[in-house]
Amino acid sequence: MANVVRDPKTHPDAILPDLSKPDPLVKFTKDDIAFVYGSKWKQRYFTKKGDDYFPLGAQWDITHQVWRSYQVASGTDWWTPFYPGGNMQRPTGPLCDGCHSVNYNIETKTVTEWNVGCEKCHGPGASHSERPTRANIVNPVRLDFVRANDVCIQCHSQGQPLANPIKGKYYDWPVGFEVGKSLQDFWKLEEHKLGQQSFTHFADGTAHKNRMQGNDFITSQMYTHGVTCFSCHDVHGTGNNAEVLKPASLTCLECHGPNSPNGPHASTIEAHTHHKAGSAGNECINCHMPKIEQTIADVNVRAHTFKFITPATTETLKVPNPCGTCHAKEGPEFTSKALRNWGNVSGWRMAQ
Ligand code: HEC
Ligand code: HEC
Ligand code: HEC
Ligand code: HEC
Ligand code: HEC
Ligand code: HEC
Ligand code: HEC
Repeated sequence: MANVVRDPKTHPDAILPDLSKPDPLVKFTKDDIAFVYGSKWKQRYFTKKGDDYFPLGAQWDITHQVWRSYQVASGTDWWTPFYPGGNMQRPTGPLCDGCHSVNYNIETKTVTEWNVGCEKCHGPGASHSERPTRANIVNPVRLDFVRANDVCIQCHSQGQPLANPIKGKYYDWPVGFEVGKSLQDFWKLEEHKLGQQSFTHFADGTAHKNRMQGNDFITSQMYTHGVTCFSCHDVHGTGNNAEVLKPASLTCLECHGPNSPNGPHASTIEAHTHHKAGSAGNECINCHMPKIEQTIADVNVRAHTFKFITPATTETLKVPNPCGTCHAKEGPEFTSKALRNWGNVSGWRMAQ
């Protein structure tokens, strides 16, 4: 998380694609780029005009190594009616920078640091660095579970500030929030009507775009039992994919296992999953965290509701289910039938 936003003048290697190769989508040159955003899934480019930055019209899909258009279409994100004029009318200050910097000041349009720095999660650190004590810094583990998760949800969610517009502008990030406060006093999560698919949600309420881990996680039983984002992730870096504490399958087994009161309720893991040890179908995250939330084109991030989406939900509400994704060849009847014969799974629940 420490280096999403970079200035190509000081980091010339930050630009991943080769800009000397012409592409009809790319109508800018290296000299137009004031900032490069992103290094994992997609890379976007910003140009400076006056004291504002604006997104350029093409983005790089890192997985497929191709250019794609970057224009948020009207009628998609909630803020498009307030910024109708296309990219050069959409400054990054109100729409992006609060989540991609520390202390973005809406008056002066300055930051103390680009990217997700220490103070974004630990609060102001000046007096702590002079005289370090426990009392003058926020340690998220000592917050209650709501405020602890809010440390992450402030950026990992889709929503709107309660106070919009703020000084005449519409913001897409929780202006004024600081860790330790209640995020709910600043921010409302994007609304969703059950049964309707929207820009942000599938019809069953699962998120269907990226940056919605918070919207998902608050619906889980784990959230209400005091589990936090950092029960599974260490944001200071672990070397594992997505900075999980241990490789994904072992992360779950810290709290789950055949004899754990937290479930799953079966004599062995294989008896719960009905797939052999070593099979992709035996991995917790493949059934409980399917990759269905779009970040760019067909590149998706994982759901964080942790619920099992049934094949019946796919039929009625068009939400992809994990069995169907792996067993597309065998067809939907195959997995529904198999599930009906799994004694430890409720047929009533699978029919919903
Ligand atoms: C994205 C949020 C985030 C950022 C950024 C972040 N931290 Fe943390 N930090 C946490 C959380 C959550 C905890 C408590 C859980 C844990 O240890 O992972 C924590 C715990 C700590 C601890 C206590 C560890 C312990 O063993 O008790 C220290 C020290 C710390 N962070 C220092 C830093 C420093 C220095 C930086 C900047 C270089 C930083 N953190 C950046 C979220 C963050
Ligand atoms: C200031 C906004 C902000 C806060 C606060 C924040 N994140 Fe992030 N997080 C980001 C951004 C931006 C990225 C994308 C980074 C990238 O692409 O390298 C990210 C990426 C991640 C990733 C994916 C890393 C990877 O390599 O796949 C994880 C996991 C994550 N954050 C967890 C957390 C957790 C847990 C917390 C709370 C302790 C947290 N974040 C707080 C903005 C934030
Ligand atoms: C509410 C906070 C928030 C806002 C507002 C926001 N982002 Fe992000 N952004 C994140 C988080 C968190 C992630 C990483 C998690 C994810 O994508 O699921 C991310 C990821 C990204 C990535 C992908 C990084 C990578 O390495 O692939 C890019 C590029 C990006 N954001 C650009 C933007 C732009 C451009 C805007 C404004 C139009 C914007 N963001 C607005 C929080 C935010
Ligand atoms: C820090 C401990 C902890 C970790 C790590 C953990 N869980 Fe949980 N999990 C719980 C607790 C506690 C419950 C609630 C149990 C209950 O209802 O009594 C739970 C419940 C669940 C449930 C029930 C449904 C729901 O809404 O939450 C599922 C499914 C689940 N966990 C999957 C996972 C998966 C998959 C992983 C690994 C990615 C994982 N858990 C990692 C503690 C944990
Ligand atoms: C092949 C798919 C699949 C895999 C893999 C899988 N599960 Fe499940 N899991 C299910 C289904 C189906 C249910 C029942 C869901 C329901 O009733 O809503 C379930 C329910 C659960 C529950 C709640 C019910 C209970 O028994 O307590 C927990 C907890 C759980 N799984 C944890 C895990 C963990 C941990 C792993 C990895 C060790 C895992 N699951 C791997 C399909 C899977
Ligand atoms: C129960 C464990 C658990 C909890 C709680 C949890 N995550 Fe994750 N998260 C994971 C696992 C496992 C992965 C995927 C790792 C992999 O693919 O190898 C993941 C992936 C991610 C990613 C990378 C995108 C992707 O899907 O690959 C981000 C960002 C992220 N989590 C943020 C969060 C945030 C923010 C929270 C809290 C709102 C949170 N997570 C809560 C286990 C968890
Ligand atoms: C991540 C991919 C993946 C997921 C998710 C998955 N499976 Fe599988 N499944 C496999 C693979 C691979 C096999 C081949 C045998 C093995 O490895 O166990 C298999 C085997 C099977 C078999 C046995 C087929 C035979 O001919 O013996 C059945 C039945 C089955 N899966 C049903 C399901 C159901 C129902 C679900 C959802 C609850 C599901 N699978 C989820 C990958 C997956």
